[in-house]
Amino acid sequence: MKSLKSEDRIASILKKQNWNITKIQPLPFYTGGGLLNGPVLKYRITHDNKTTTIAVKNVTKEPRFLFRSLYSEYGHANTKQLHLFDQCCSFLSMNRMPEREMFFYTNRNSSICQNVPQIYGMEYEGQTLILLMEDLSYCIRMDQIETPHVWSSEDICLAVETLAMFHHVELCPKKSLPHWEVSEQYDTITLFLEEFNDSMNRYVTLRRIPQVDTATENYLRNLSEYETRLKEYRKILIHNDFNIRNICLDSKNKKIKVYDWEFIDYGNPIMDLVDLFLSLSPGHLEKANLDVWMNLYIEKASAYGETGLNLSTLKEQLYYNTVRYSATRMNMYFLFYLEGKKSYIERMYRNLFKLIIYCESR
Ligand SMILES: Nc1ncnc2c1ncn2[C@@H]1O[C@H](COP(=O)(O)OP(=O)(O)OP(=O)(O)O)[C@@H](O)[C@H]1O
Ligand SMILES: [Mg+2]
Repeated sequence: MKSLKSEDRIASILKKQNWNITKIQPLPFYTGGGLLNGPVLKYRITHDNKTTTIAVKNVTKEPRFLFRSLYSEYGHANTKQLHLFDQCCSFLSMNRMPEREMFFYTNRNSSICQNVPQIYGMEYEGQTLILLMEDLSYCIRMDQIETPHVWSSEDICLAVETLAMFHHVELCPKKSLPHWEVSEQYDTITLFLEEFNDSMNRYVTLRRIPQVDTATENYLRNLSEYETRLKEYRKILIHNDFNIRNICLDSKNKKIKVYDWEFIDYGNPIMDLVDLFLSLSPGHLEKANLDVWMNLYIEKASAYGETGLNLSTLKEQLYYNTVRYSATRMNMYFLFYLEGKKSYIERMYRNLFKLIIYCESR
């Protein structure tokens, strides 16, 4: 079947939502596009005697295919290692990406609707999910990954409060929850991550930080124990990519808006806090600031009825998730972004050090 021109496809999706369209105009807007998906595009739609600007995202490739090709292309992996990776990709949330984003927007809990873009329509074209969203360009602090210091302490407090809320209202109601397969073959996962970590250590030309590398090795040695501990604390549906690349601020309504739900998965919620902290400016990650944000999270979580969370139990979860991040996501970022986003991943690696030092402090 011949695929429709973008504008025709968009019109067809919106007509099903009863939009009476008279004109669709593509707008110049370039987000750069990620490694996986093309850039988000914008269109001005004239319909029903008004105009609405929409943002259009095409969720395409599964990250595991990109990972696989880079992993072998650079000579890091032989057939056996690729096979190990295939067994681990659900542990790394690297599968079913369009399905996850579609699942979230179809089922999201109505109590968080002010924190996510409105969806005007979505549809698969082949394997690609076409997502028609509210244009969030009125928000601030968007795409400030190169200048993370623009996030003020107040903004970060709001992001932490939003996370505490997400972690206690259920992102999607229980009855809608999918049964994504999760690999818990910890021996296989450890073997894969050890070999992957070794190849990234050889590949990456950054000056190594011994404390980070030791903490990562520590996680790999104790993976099954740490994972079990994290699960015992809590395992719920989390955003799983909650960093300043995927959040922005609706300053008029004082709300954090969160997009890019491709990685939504079950996990320990404090991973979202680690993700947020690691994306901030190194200047933010001082003990006094981190104490404020951690205590704020505890205060909000307690207000939602969570019991047993104090600075020490939260720090323990923060530590396990930080070293888990170091052994998984950080190495994936090295593989994906070392060429194009060196300063960003260098900053994250240094932030890992700051966060590990914080977790080890009393
Ligand atoms: N609803 C929206 N309104 C305006 N801009 C948006 C919207 N959604 C996404 N964008 C822009 O498009 C960029 C990419 O979107 P998103 O993060 O959802 O996709 P992605 O393909 O996963 O990108 P990346 O790999 O960079 O995370 C965002 O960083 C943001 O600049
Ligand atoms: Mg993104």
